[in-house]
Amino acid sequence: MAPRADVLLLAVAVAAAACAAASAQTRPGRLVVSGVVPCNTGTLIDAATSPAFPDAKVELRCGGSVVARATTRRDGSFEMEADAVAGALGALVGACQLVVDTPLAKCNATLPAAGALVSSLQSPLAGMLGGVFRLDPAGFSFRMN
Ligand SMILES: *[C@@H]1O[C@H](CO)[C@@H](O)[C@H](O)[C@H]1NC(C)=O
Repeated sequence: MAPRADVLLLAVAVAAAACAAASAQTRPGRLVVSGVVPCNTGTLIDAATSPAFPDAKVELRCGGSVVARATTRRDGSFEMEADAVAGALGALVGACQLVVDTPLAKCNATLPAAGALVSSLQSPLAGMLGGVFRLDPAGFSFRMN
């Protein structure tokens, strides 16, 4: 192998690293959405008093498209990340919702095999910390579809 190829590879790697560092600096901010999915039907279900929904696929949908996905842990909790533009946080809260893409029958066979849990988003008091926007589910509600 000619040494020139190694030098070229190194140059490419250095350039790529520089680009990655530059884009990390100019990145508008990260959006972190976290919460707990309940295994229950109803409206604005209190996750604290409901059984948890493990292994549920949760999608963050904004304006009809999926921008982030997560799967709940054994305790029903999930966390997902997406890019956020600082000024658009309010618009984001209004335009996005969480949709659970796993039927409730998966966590409790007596619950419906159709329909989905859906929640809008809310910003907790410490919504923005260190360039990270944190959003919570405002409360999951069961919706037939
Ligand atoms: C399953 O759902 C039914 C109906 O809501 C409820 O009565 C029952 O306690 C649930 N079972 C478990 C294990 O959570």
